[in-house]
Amino acid sequence: MTKKRILSGMRPTGKLHIGHYVGALENWVKLQEQYENFHLIADYHVLTTSLNTDDIYLNSTEMLIDWLAAGLDPVKSPMFRQSKVKEHTELHLIFSMLITVNRLERNPTVKEQARDLNIDNIIYGHLGYPVLQTADILLYKGNAVPVGEDQVPHIEISREIARKFNNQYGNVFPEPEPLLTNFARLAGLDGSSKMSKSLGNTILLSDDPETVKARMKKAVTDPKKIRKGDPGHPEICLVFSYHKKFNSAEVPTIEAGCRSGALGCFDCKMICSAKISQFIEPIREKRQYYEARPDEVKQILFDGEERARTAAKATMEEVREKMKIG
Ligand code: TRP
Repeated sequence: MTKKRILSGMRPTGKLHIGHYVGALENWVKLQEQYENFHLIADYHVLTTSLNTDDIYLNSTEMLIDWLAAGLDPVKSPMFRQSKVKEHTELHLIFSMLITVNRLERNPTVKEQARDLNIDNIIYGHLGYPVLQTADILLYKGNAVPVGEDQVPHIEISREIARKFNNQYGNVFPEPEPLLTNFARLAGLDGSSKMSKSLGNTILLSDDPETVKARMKKAVTDPKKIRKGDPGHPEICLVFSYHKKFNSAEVPTIEAGCRSGALGCFDCKMICSAKISQFIEPIREKRQYYEARPDEVKQILFDGEERARTAAKATMEEVREKMKIG
């Protein structure tokens, strides 16, 4: 039996943080065993948030190195830049005819992004973001897409477009399913709900133990626990949420120490940062291996792009045949 296909993607914003790992990468690595995977670097999508392209290549390779360091296997799964497989643009154009503006305006992420970017007037590309994402997925006939909750509306749009195409021209595409990651999003060091580069509240997969410590010192904790001895409320503490992920064995001790006051926030943070450093150590080591071998990284990308192109070309041939144009 042939394996089902996964298309996963991320926008290249540079080095990845531990939130990317627990929210996505950890899952991608596991999925490699069960599915045939394609891993996309969404370097066109990144233009929706910044028109400055100077760092896109660097950011893409930094992200690729983090993927490899986290355990994605380039032999099993092609990793490639969206902009290097031109069929994405062709399929995107065709798909843009199969969905209404009204439907795209109802997409909640468009509204969120407009709010986050503080703009009233979104660009055309923003509205079409999920249409391009659909082309990313369906070009490889992705059956499943590992995503966080926030991306589910996009996958719904992809399903609608697949259905519309199939009804109109004949069956080519699967209706992709979202594969939800079971670990909730990792909160940022400043207590905001999301770790994100733009908020500057991250711990990177590439941070050394001293950096992790320094970053952790700034983490917010229970505001009522001011000094050691004060009883704390772990359920509202950010650092405690990290213990749950990175130091699960000691959670009962940490919880009891925090509640009684015996454990102060500083010591608690130092225990936590040591655990996080331990957790990322193998990733950091592997990262250093690839950092020292830029040619090997380039080759991985070129090979991935070649494989992606082959798959994309096959799909587009089917599309052109069904549509009798192109
Ligand atoms: N929208 C995704 C994100 O912001 C990135 C992305 C682009 C993607 N194309 C994709 C994700 C295709 C999954 C499949 O994270």
